[in-house]
Amino acid sequence: MLLQIAQVLPPALLSQCLALAESGAQFVDGKQTAGWHAKQRKNNLQARPDAALKTAFAQVEKALLAHELVAAAGRPKSIVRLLLSRYETGMSYGTHVDDAIMSGQRTDLSFTLFLNAPEQYEGGSLVVDEPAGERAFKLDASSMLLYPSTTLHRVEPVTSGKRLVIVGWIRSLVRDAQEREILFDLERLIALQRAKPEQDGATLELMLKTRSNLLRKWAED
Ligand code: NI
Repeated sequence: MLLQIAQVLPPALLSQCLALAESGAQFVDGKQTAGWHAKQRKNNLQARPDAALKTAFAQVEKALLAHELVAAAGRPKSIVRLLLSRYETGMSYGTHVDDAIMSGQRTDLSFTLFLNAPEQYEGGSLVVDEPAGERAFKLDASSMLLYPSTTLHRVEPVTSGKRLVIVGWIRSLVRDAQEREILFDLERLIALQRAKPEQDGATLELMLKTRSNLLRKWAED
């Protein structure tokens, strides 16, 4: 399941991240954080994790973990890693799969959080390879695409302007993508049930019981 999530960051934090991406941070060759295969395909810039960036990332992590949709779709145990990436004109990232283990933690979900508006650069779509074909995403500022780390994906060449994003990885309590999707659907059912003007208490209780018991069955803590 691929999920688009809008308005992930509070406006002040978005501005702070954008300022770091535009000029505040010191950027190095992105190949430094790529696995051996991805290295040959990766052509972008990544910010050095200095004190200002670490402070911003701590806030981003908090915002992600507090986000209702991230929680429901990702069931995060932890945010494994965050990177601030900049693609200048001519930069791209060829087809690759993300490393399965980063800093000793399994990566279950990947995400790209867009920091600047899609009108500010040409090209630079995130393209995810799905069984039904490729899908391209170029989202609004503060929106993110959340997708299973098991998928092949790439970033198309930026042909003008700058593409500024935060990319990251989530270690989920629920390893299996299908199980996460079932839990996500159930979460939506519960929300729909709760929103009904006339509460059907018995149905809601049974849904909550099912959610609880599926989590007990599938979650690894
Ligand atoms: Ni990737």
